[in-house]
Amino acid sequence: MVKLTPPMGWNSWNTFGADINEKLIFDTADAMAAKGLPEKGYEYLVIDDCWSMKERDANERLVADPEKFPHGMKAVADYVHSKGLKFGMYSCAGNLTCAGYPGSFEHEFIDAETFAEWEVDFLKYDYCYHSPIIPGKYLYRRMGLALENCGRDILFSACSWGIDETHEWIKTTGASMWRSTGDIFDTWESVKDLTRQQEKLHPYNGAGCFNDMDMLVVGMYGKGNVGLKGCNDIQYRTHFSIWAFMGSPLMIGCDVRDMSQASLDILGNEEIIRINQDRLCSQPVKLAGTWAGEDLLLYSRQLENGDLAIGMFNLSENKAVGRLNLDELGLPFSTGRTLEVKELWTGESVEVKNATMVRELEPFDCAMLRAKVVKL
Ligand code: GLA
Repeated sequence: MVKLTPPMGWNSWNTFGADINEKLIFDTADAMAAKGLPEKGYEYLVIDDCWSMKERDANERLVADPEKFPHGMKAVADYVHSKGLKFGMYSCAGNLTCAGYPGSFEHEFIDAETFAEWEVDFLKYDYCYHSPIIPGKYLYRRMGLALENCGRDILFSACSWGIDETHEWIKTTGASMWRSTGDIFDTWESVKDLTRQQEKLHPYNGAGCFNDMDMLVVGMYGKGNVGLKGCNDIQYRTHFSIWAFMGSPLMIGCDVRDMSQASLDILGNEEIIRINQDRLCSQPVKLAGTWAGEDLLLYSRQLENGDLAIGMFNLSENKAVGRLNLDELGLPFSTGRTLEVKELWTGESVEVKNATMVRELEPFDCAMLRAKVVKL
């Protein structure tokens, strides 16, 4: 499987944890289609942990829990596919999954074949209960090979939380995305923590194998499996902007059946998604700029049509002012060029004066800018 832009979709874990079943998945597929999410790019519907029986069958095959999924997984795949979506499932490189269901260790090939039979399109592969002796890179290579040989195009989504130097070997495994951070929770502190964890990993992100900052908490408002304090809409908007800007996969984690209009507006912003899906997949540049306040992140990124994306992310609870000089963006006066800048959340133009751009930001807010290079 070759994936050239960050994968997008929905995953059951953040909101539902173990509380998953066929009806929930069918209703979620309906809701995703009804809200136009596939057209925005959200193509995968992924069932996370807790879908199977606690034992394999007599042929060593994984078995779907008949109480949760009475018609089996192929029927779920068929339904998801009928809604124009792709279907994802979950397993683990250890003996057990993180929630204690059978993992794929020493069953990699038979499990990959089972997933292919069920017409699965995506496999999230966790790292709990893994062998203390066999290094993770071997375990992920095994499943990567099993998937490439199972007869179906299945996206391999590795989830070893960035530990054991995952960044050094993940591209040897055939994975199209890899969890580069620990688990997310629905709090601002968690969003901030994962953002900071990601900053040293930008050089490892790129087309074909994307740094996965974990599923989005946008729209959870503190409800569900990883819902703690929750965030407000400004924080969700900044969280989404950071994940999009940094080139992370965008996997929705809230209950899409009754998501708020504000959440849909955030997750559905086509200009922000366009930056995330930009095919240049260029590395974000951390800018020094000058800024007043605390915890303000300034970034730029080259885009495939010659534009620049500029992100200003105020992680703090106080107002901040960011100031960028065009020099640092690669446009000193000597180039005879300047920027025409648009803010993507508000649609307003941003002035560039004396080769400088200034932006005030409310607490937790961000500016997502798209800038065109023009003659002075
Ligand atoms: C780990 C993963 C989570 C989720 C759970 C399921 O913690 O990082 O994303 O898949 O396991 O048990």
